Amino acid sequence: MPDAAAAGRRAAEIIAAVVTAKPEAVLGFATGSSPVATYEALADHCADGLNMSRVTGFALDEYVGLPAGHPQSYASVIGRDVVARLGLRRGSVRVPDGSAEDLQAACAAYEEEIGAAGGIDLQVLGIGGNGHIGFNEPSSSLASRTRVKTLSPGTAADNSRFFDGDPSQVPRHCITQGIGTILEAKRLLLIASGSAKAAAVAQMVEGPIGAFCPATALQLHANSTVVLDEAAAANLLERAYYAYVEINRPAWQGP
Ligand code: F6R
Repeated sequence: MPDAAAAGRRAAEIIAAVVTAKPEAVLGFATGSSPVATYEALADHCADGLNMSRVTGFALDEYVGLPAGHPQSYASVIGRDVVARLGLRRGSVRVPDGSAEDLQAACAAYEEEIGAAGGIDLQVLGIGGNGHIGFNEPSSSLASRTRVKTLSPGTAADNSRFFDGDPSQVPRHCITQGIGTILEAKRLLLIASGSAKAAAVAQMVEGPIGAFCPATALQLHANSTVVLDEAAAANLLERAYYAYVEINRPAWQGP
């Protein structure tokens, strides 16, 4: 796609088709910058009549230890960027409990809740510059489940833009869906834009599968879609072929 806004529109088209086919779909929501254009474009679909009021969902991850209501907690971000913007019912998107006294129990409960909801129909993902998905940092087991992880110093530096530019304000720990958990979603939709993602994207799509680049796990999923702008796609060896596939996408395949 030419730019991040176009990538967002393409990704929103895919999500809108899933919700149209199944109004009570269970969606997995990423936070951060990558899906913002997608959620904005999806809000346009809602303005044009897409009804998302029966959708429920699960966030990918949450920081550990931020005070309740902190504006940068992912519970707050999901409330603003997803629930309010897309007209979902209050409380319809679960977020891991990063303030729980017993964090391990909170992780186990989250896995149970996803299972009880019948699993995730479509999981939206971004990718870190180091190849993480969720907060599964390099060396995360490809079979991992929802658990507490330590953010890498690089991820804390990247996310410091949400914390007054100060990496020391970024929590050290988080709860994240595991890679094994993510791979159980029925469909994966990863969105990336900008040159800072180009190396990780090339590794994800064309590199060997391995825990050192957690996003390579998408190669193991039978129904995963990667939507990129040109800058994020720049390092892909076969990018001309992928563009050709997109242009020649059979109509029966849907978005
Ligand atoms: C966010 C998440 C992360 C981000 C990734 C990219 O819920 O799980 O994997 O998707 O860190 O972040 P942005 O999109 O801010 O560049």
